[in-house]
Amino acid sequence: MDSTTFVLFGATGDLAKRKIYPALYNLFIDRKLVPTFSLIGLGRRELSDETFQANVEQSLRMFSRRQAEDPVLMNSFLSAFRYRVLDVGRKDDYKKLLNQIELREEELGISPNRLFYLSVGPEFFETIAANIQESGLGSANGWKRLVIEKPFGHDLQSARDLNEKLSKAFAEDEIFRIDHYLGKPMVQKLEVLQQTNPVLRALWTNRYIANVQITANETVGVEERAGYYDHVGAVRDMFQNHMLQLLMMLAIHLPSDSTSSENVRYKKKKIMEALEPLQKQSVGANVVRAQYTAGVINGKPVVDYTSEPGIAATSMNDTFIAAKLQIDDFFWRGVPFYIRTGKRMKEKSTRIVIEFKGPLKQPSSTPEDSKVPNLLVFEISPNEGITLQLNTRDPDHKEEFKPILIDFHSKKDDVPEAYENLIHDALHGDPTFFAHWDEVELSWQWVQPILEAFEENVVPLRKYAAGSYGPTESDALLAEDGYHWWFDA
Ligand code: BG6
Repeated sequence: MDSTTFVLFGATGDLAKRKIYPALYNLFIDRKLVPTFSLIGLGRRELSDETFQANVEQSLRMFSRRQAEDPVLMNSFLSAFRYRVLDVGRKDDYKKLLNQIELREEELGISPNRLFYLSVGPEFFETIAANIQESGLGSANGWKRLVIEKPFGHDLQSARDLNEKLSKAFAEDEIFRIDHYLGKPMVQKLEVLQQTNPVLRALWTNRYIANVQITANETVGVEERAGYYDHVGAVRDMFQNHMLQLLMMLAIHLPSDSTSSENVRYKKKKIMEALEPLQKQSVGANVVRAQYTAGVINGKPVVDYTSEPGIAATSMNDTFIAAKLQIDDFFWRGVPFYIRTGKRMKEKSTRIVIEFKGPLKQPSSTPEDSKVPNLLVFEISPNEGITLQLNTRDPDHKEEFKPILIDFHSKKDDVPEAYENLIHDALHGDPTFFAHWDEVELSWQWVQPILEAFEENVVPLRKYAAGSYGPTESDALLAEDGYHWWFDA
């Protein structure tokens, strides 16, 4: 890793405390930061360096997966942190920032490589990027990178507008768009699993796969984010980005000798291009939108969406979306990909289930529910694991067969957080697990008819009880094709 100055906009914000500082700390413990690593935190509030460092330490105690036992180690980590006040709209502040960065670089004897991490609302992206450009914060003698996080726009047009503005200050290969699902270790393993295991490679086609199910269920509701969430819904908050990224990562076929970032991103783009587009009129047949009503989660009663603080009683916002997608290419033609994500579901779980073709039936009986297909399951979070369901002879009823599970689960402590992986890669300039503009644009393009159909109420808003697995219409989406969601207990 090159020596770098990590310039953090929004240094007193929630994301910094919960994710960025703990990620940096764990990288430091793993010796993945250079000894001259330097961070300058920026915010609106006046803070001394000492108070800033104390705040960072406190956030590590609250949110780091590994606790800071050793004070020497902790002090050495915190000594890299400096703070300064910056008003994002005031040009003069950027000049002063440049002076401070240069002084610090001189003090540490490091090159002017600068990573600008915008941990602020998207309404500030454009102003900050333009001011970085104008003030000369990007030096000709080093590299500059911009790290931003969704939302990248609100629809296709606004995403294009934003990108156009950002690209006046940063080239595409300097922009690192975080989709934190791409940082999840199991998601990062998908390409390698398929690429390095001929047995999986051979099966990754419509010849053997019946359908793919991608689920990201959450138990939390709208939390304290009513103002944001009620304008975006599950379709923009999760589906357009995280869920489509999971689909791309699962569906790509990489050449057996290369996992270069160009290849990964090129193949992902190809998947998005092959995704059969929906028309506004056909959205209703392929997409279910729904909102939660009151219910019980983990024994606790919870209110319906429209009774949440900050949500209007008349809100038609979607807190759940399920969709059936088809990839029209050589490998996947005819294989439905079912995707669903929702708030206030029965359990927190993100997983991909691959159902293989059979259908196998018990020799002695033929009811539909006795089908026992082979399943390959990638558990993404909160636990990480891989399970393969195979059939074997049932020792008690020899004429019957019995499914067994071949199971691998990682130990929880061994699993790095998504932000550790992503910040590490951004510092190293590896764009593999960041969203390229092409993917973002194609995702918005694919989702656009859904946004319009929702807005115009062409698709009915279904209801589901909090603590369930979503509305019955989501089950019907699969049942029409003879399938069901696996593992809904
Ligand atoms: C975020 C969404 O991107 O992802 C949140 O804005 C959601 O609404 C979160 O809760 C889910 O992330 P994870 O890693 O907990 O599955």
